Amino acid sequence: MEHRIERVLLSEEQIQKRIGELAQQINEDYKGKSIVMIGILRGAVMFFTDLAKKLTVPVKMDFMAVSSYAGGMRTSGVVRLVHDLAENIEGKDVLIVEDIVDSGLTLSYLVNNLTLRKPNSLKICCLLDKPYQRTRDVHTDYVGFEIANEFVIGYGLDYKDYYRNLPYVGVLKVDE
Ligand code: PRP
Repeated sequence: MEHRIERVLLSEEQIQKRIGELAQQINEDYKGKSIVMIGILRGAVMFFTDLAKKLTVPVKMDFMAVSSYAGGMRTSGVVRLVHDLAENIEGKDVLIVEDIVDSGLTLSYLVNNLTLRKPNSLKICCLLDKPYQRTRDVHTDYVGFEIANEFVIGYGLDYKDYYRNLPYVGVLKVDE
């Protein structure tokens, strides 16, 4: 166990099982259509690839990188667009894939930004929903797990840019 992990919150098995369920739902909902999956870097990288592997509907992949935490435990309150999409999404059925929705600031920025590009539809899939510190009213369509108000790391989520490669989600051990 990593020394900064207080405890495992979601094991690799729990995460993979839930992703299978989400994929099944998405496959049903998008039957006969194709999806442009947009992975929100960097946090969504693990979830994005594992989810994509379980989708059977045709998918295109594109990525945006946005950042507002700068590695720390609190949002800076400002979302910075680090990398934009490669393709035009006008008229496309778009699925935003996020690792976590916390304050809702990032998602609200993304929805506003992508809606202006006139997709045919825009849905949100996030692995983790932490609804206790919402400052923005955001809608999610597919949610893996609702979690308590704890700082989580692993499976894409970082603390000071580390721990993203853990295959599970753990609670960060806070210094006394
Ligand atoms: C994290 C996470 C979400 C966002 C959620 O990204 O990946 O995108 O914060 O928090 P919010 O709902 O309070 O906006 P971060 O800014 O840390 O960038 P990263 O994905 O590169 O780690």
